[in-house]
Order: sequence, then structure tokens, then C-alpha cells
Amino acid sequence: MCGIFGYLGSNQQAGSLILDGLKTLEYRGYDSWGVAIKKNDGSLYIEKHIGKIGSASLPSFPAHVGIGHTRWATHGGVRNENAHPHTDCTKKIAIVHNGIVENFETIKSDLNKKGHTFKSETDSEVIAHLIEEIYKTEPNKVKVMQKLRSHITGLNAVITFFPEDESFYIIKNGSPIVIGEGDNEFYIASDASAIIPHTKKVYFLEDNEMVELSKKGVSLFDTKGVHQNITYTTLTYAAESTEKGSFDHFMLKEISEQPKILRNIGETQKTEIKKAADEISSSYGTYLIGCGTASYACLAGTYLFSKIAHRHVNFAIGSEFSYLLDFLKENSLVFALSQSGETIDIISSVKKAKEKKAQLLSLTNSQGSSLYRMSDHNLLLHAGPEKAVASTKAYTAKISFLYLIAHQLAGTFEKGKINLLKAVDEISQIIQNKSSIQSLAAKMKDYKSIFILGRGVSYAAALESALKIKEVSYIHAEGFAAGELKHGVIALIEKGTPVILFNPEDETYEDTLSAAHEVSARGAHVIGVSSKNDKVYDTFIEVKNCGNATIIPNVVIAQLLGYFLALAKGLDPDKPRNLAKSVTVK
Ligand code: F6R
Repeated sequence: MCGIFGYLGSNQQAGSLILDGLKTLEYRGYDSWGVAIKKNDGSLYIEKHIGKIGSASLPSFPAHVGIGHTRWATHGGVRNENAHPHTDCTKKIAIVHNGIVENFETIKSDLNKKGHTFKSETDSEVIAHLIEEIYKTEPNKVKVMQKLRSHITGLNAVITFFPEDESFYIIKNGSPIVIGEGDNEFYIASDASAIIPHTKKVYFLEDNEMVELSKKGVSLFDTKGVHQNITYTTLTYAAESTEKGSFDHFMLKEISEQPKILRNIGETQKTEIKKAADEISSSYGTYLIGCGTASYACLAGTYLFSKIAHRHVNFAIGSEFSYLLDFLKENSLVFALSQSGETIDIISSVKKAKEKKAQLLSLTNSQGSSLYRMSDHNLLLHAGPEKAVASTKAYTAKISFLYLIAHQLAGTFEKGKINLLKAVDEISQIIQNKSSIQSLAAKMKDYKSIFILGRGVSYAAALESALKIKEVSYIHAEGFAAGELKHGVIALIEKGTPVILFNPEDETYEDTLSAAHEVSARGAHVIGVSSKNDKVYDTFIEVKNCGNATIIPNVVIAQLLGYFLALAKGLDPDKPRNLAKSVTVK
């Protein structure tokens, strides 16, 4: 969603530095952008555009302080006027904002009565005018921000830039904000990946904290405006890992990174996995929660825990969990899965779970993220920054953790590791032979719908595979439990309908094969993904049996299929329409 990048320091090319920072955040998804930069002659330069930054550049002028924003429209259409930064009537205050000011209409009508004029339709612009109004009678900017905070409702992060004294005031409740300190220079961003090329010394703001950032340095205040000591975190990942390298797209790069990441999990994470298994063992019920791809990893987790560890775990979609947590107790364990660690639907549910004193274990890819900081126990995915909007490596890393935790609970970690490493070899093969999937995609690109069937844990894999295909190729794709065919789904099958069938040689094999016959009899084009070929398949993709870990290579096939379908249709797989990488607004 919206991205923020601000700079204060001695670099006299603040404009291009801010633009580059915004480009680093492009992967989050946005539809317009803007900057507010104080020129060295004292004037405030504002530029806003709809569309992508692309190869845009700013006029070259010396400047060492400013702020930029990429906007993902919520209140008000995609128009230049609605892009951030927004200014007050005097143009002495510029703000950028992530989140939603829920009571903006009331505030706007009050400010209208007081003579303020608005240039945009956004909820965000009211913040600039409200600050202007408060500042008329309250010269202390920390107090201004406290008052601002008490006026606006909703989950918000606001950066206020006062060009007159080159200061920034940051308040946050909900949307993530991180500041970075370099050598006599400071950075502000909505995501640490934008700061990492400059400094690894960062501070993630907690909800209700405030930061004042000026030439004098950084000051941190608590909710009451009391000065606090700031303790920086040192980021551990490298800046290069955020680049595309020799790959055409982040999505392909991230798919290709999976063998290394998964092998590393199997070989180095035993201690962390044991700790997580102990948490689950000692809990009074475990609840797996996640959104989108992460929710399908959670669903797969329920099958894996049941099959391997004979343990029941509950599952809920992150955005639904707050309506399902009546049974939580003090020693219930909420096990939250989130690549970004910033997904608002997870954060809000987890807050409610914490009110009920449940324990929180999280599996995220983002050290220092909101979820990471809220958790009683943390597991890190160690998948490296994921920049393509469609999640690939974070999904398979999540499954690998769940799979090994289940084996750890069953006392069979080493067996699990062997199967995981077999799955890694299969993935490497699939990636090496990806041209066959590219050819399949070329044949499938004009299909209206694709169905994916599986039973047991392969059903969870079918759901994830369908999501991957639909979000990047815009082809309608649905995953179904193969056993549900006769309960309605089969009505959709007609001559030529492509049906991908995940059919590993496990307890589901025969029944899934029957489903293949049923759809084949109705004219479907059956694509069998299995270790064993059968004449019912019109197309066969071989994936060797890796036990319950077979779903990992199976989903990789769908990731590649989605990727190549997007390319065949002339789409950018890294930035699917309407989607944002990190969903920080409800
Ligand atoms: C799909 C996708 C999304 C995310 C979902 C949760 O490819 O990426 O469905 O999985 O928005 O995101 P995280 O894992 O960051 O909580």
C-alpha cells in the first residue's frame, strides 16, 4: 500500500534520493506519487503525478530535506490533487499519511467553517489543515502533534514536515513507520527495505509513540509526550537482496530462490522449530491465522499437523479471526503467519486475542515488523525480502516451517528434513525445466477459467495455486476439494475446460484419480501432477513423491504457470492490478 520516504541530511541531491527511495517501495503497489522538498533557497517544491514513477526525474536543484509518498487510492480517485504530500492553506506544513482518518468528514466540515479551503477529496488533507489550525494557538510542535492525535480516529501514520525549521514529526497508530540514522543523516520510511541501502541502524515506531526529527537529532516521545530513550535495531539483511539482479522480474527471481531458502530452513532452523513445537505442545489449543496466501499455508498446516503429529489445530482467515476468538483462553496459542508482519487484518485480530491474554507466536519474514514486535515468541522465515506482489518464496518457506514443526511434534524431525530436502531437489528440477511450463502457459493463455483439484493437504495447495494463477494472469482460477466435484463444481466442466489435478501417491491417490475420470468424461483437458502417469491425463507433469512435502513442488509448478501466463498475456507479473504488497489498511 502507500509508501513513504523522507530524508534530512547533508546530501544536496535530496530530490533524487527521495525519488529513488520511493522507487524501492514501488512493489507495495500505488497509483500516484508526489514529493515535497525544501530547496536550499528556502522555497518548498511540490510535484505530484498519477501513474508510476518509471523513469521520471525531478528538476535538479540543491536540497537536503524533503518527503515523498506513493499513494494507493482509498478516499478520492486517482488524481494529481489527491496525491500526497498535502499542504495547509499557508503551505508552511506538508504532510504524508498512511491509513484512514475515519472522522475526516466531521473535521473537514469544522475546518471549512473556519475558512480552510481544500484542494483534494482525501481524508489525508484534513490533517494538514488541522495542524495549521492547532498551530495557530499552540507553538510547541510536540503538543500540536499530541492534539492532532487526540482529534483523528482510525489507524494512521502521519509524517508532518515543517520546512521552516526543517523538522519532521511522526505519529503512528497502526500503519508501520521506521526511521534510520546514518552518518549525520536521517531517513523515514514505511518499510525498512527503502532504508537498508543507506543504513542498517533503524528504529520501528510503536503505536502511539511520536518522533521529532530535526538537524538536532531524533527525539522519541511516549503517548503523554514524555521523552524516551531510543534503542535502535540493526537490520541483518543485505541491500543487494532487494534488487532484481539478472532476472527480468522479481517473481521469477523469488521463485528461483526457493531451493536455497528451503534447504537452509531444513538445515539451520531446528532449534527455532523445536521452540515453536514446545509452545504448541504446552498450549491449550493452537489457532493458525493468516490472510491470502498465508491463510492457505495455515490451512495446509491443519492437515500437516493432523497427518504427521496427530494434533488438531484450528484455522481462521486473519480478517475473520476476531469473530471467532470467543474460545481463547490465557494459555491458548495464536500462531500468526504473515510475510510482511504488517497485514492489518492480522494485527487487529491479534490485538483482540491479546486482550484475552492468549499467547502469540508469529512466523514472519520481517524482523522488527509490527507483528514481530507484538509477539511473545517469534520465528523468522529467513526468505529474504519478497518484492513481487504475489507471494512465492514466503509461502513455501511457511509450509516448510509448518511441516518441520509437525515432524518435530511427532518426534520425526529428521524424517521431515529428508522429505523437505527431496522436495527441494524436485523444485530445482522444476525450475530447471521451466520451459515446459512456459509452453503449457502459451497453450493456456486464452482460457477463461482454470480449475485445480486436490484432496487432503493437496486441497490447500490447490487453493494457493489458484490464487497464484488468478492474481498475476487475471484468468479465473479456482481450487476445489476433488471430493466436492459431484456436489456442484462439475456443472462448470465443459469440453476443453483445463483441470489441473494434484495427485500425489498418498492416501488420496485413488479418489483423486476418480475425479480425473469424472472431469475427463465431461470433456475436460486434464493436467495430472503426480509421481505416476495415467492414461486419463491429457498432459502429465511428473513430481516425485516427497511425502506430505510434495505440495511444495506442486505449488511451485502453479507459481511458474502463473508467471508464464502473465508474460504470455503481456502483463507485468510483479505488479498485478489493484493489488498491494503489504495490506496496511482495512
Ligand atoms: C498473494 C499474496 C497475499 C498475501 C496476503 C497476506 O500472493 O501475497 O494474499 O499473502 O496479503 O500478506 P502477509 O503474508 O504479508 O500477511
